[in-house]
Amino acid sequence: MRVLLTGAAGQLGRHLRALVPEDVQLITSARRSGDRPCDLLDQRDLLGMLDALRPDAIINAAAWTAVDGAEDEPELALRLNRDVPACLAAWCSDHDSVLLTYSTDYVFSGRPGRAWHEDDPTAPDSVYGHSKLSGELAVAETGVRALLVRTAWVYSALPGNFLSAILGRAGKGEDLRVVADQVGSPTWAGELARASWHLLGHCASELQRTERVHIAGRGAMSWHEFASLAVEQAVVAGVLKKAVNVVPIASADWPQKARRPAWSVLDCTRYEQWTGDELMDIEQALDRCLAQWAQPPC
Ligand SMILES: NC(=O)c1ccc[n+]([C@@H]2O[C@H](COP(=O)([O-])OP(=O)(O)OC[C@H]3O[C@@H](n4cnc5c(N)ncnc54)[C@H](OP(=O)(O)O)[C@@H]3O)[C@@H](O)[C@H]2O)c1
Repeated sequence: MRVLLTGAAGQLGRHLRALVPEDVQLITSARRSGDRPCDLLDQRDLLGMLDALRPDAIINAAAWTAVDGAEDEPELALRLNRDVPACLAAWCSDHDSVLLTYSTDYVFSGRPGRAWHEDDPTAPDSVYGHSKLSGELAVAETGVRALLVRTAWVYSALPGNFLSAILGRAGKGEDLRVVADQVGSPTWAGELARASWHLLGHCASELQRTERVHIAGRGAMSWHEFASLAVEQAVVAGVLKKAVNVVPIASADWPQKARRPAWSVLDCTRYEQWTGDELMDIEQALDRCLAQWAQPPC
């Protein structure tokens, strides 16, 4: 199977590249690098790339991911998170290719009293969440054979995510103040990449339409609980020399431009039932990430 990976230089893109299955011929694309560089906002170049490469499947790991930045740049966020997936979906639909693209736990708000299922009602509170939901709807509207993978709180040993930020500060001996009233499903990019390849391999040939699937760390934790666990496990793994204090705070004491859901835990039963694969729980995935700390995928 020929697979085109967009967003190949991002956090998830790098982990996907590191885990390519043997039966996949991977073609990578990033804005300024990869086998075929492409600015995805240049629709002519994007369609030219697709027509030239004619992939059997596309994994779209590119997105506008700056949650607060989206509040200031809603147009750009929509172009990346709605229009690009819509364009990929239309091309895949016309060429009988499969699309796998990512969405977010931030499409939800409120408290259902359990983890969110794929078919629960959505109500994004932020421009970012709204742009990702618009992308989901635009993809589904084309009738394409697609996997819309919702994930959450993605972290890795690469720079630019919650875990690397807090361990960087802890490494300098700084105590951490971390929000304790938002609960979600921290997800290691390595496990998300592994499960994405598994899902594509398992479901691509039988897929008839657009399907939503949750893939996230198994369990539920607040940012504060996750930070405390990370500091504890990082000391054991030798990533941190010494533990620091992790102080719980309220969201109100950490003002951010975009509103985040207080509860965004994802139920991943559908993934596990469809594929027969078990996702790692949060502790186990964090452990694996820390074990690779010195050598994240480049
Ligand atoms: N990170 C999270 O916590 C999280 C949570 C839920 C869902 N997700 C979803 O998971 C997916 C992967 O996220 P991630 O963490 O890997 O994000 P990431 O590290 O920010 O990667 C996104 C990639 O998209 C690329 N991109 C943006 N605009 C582009 C353009 N015009 N042309 C070509 N490439 C462009 C970026 O390239 P440049 O660096 O060149 O801009 C970047 O490499 C996204 O769909 C995201 O919405 C992430």
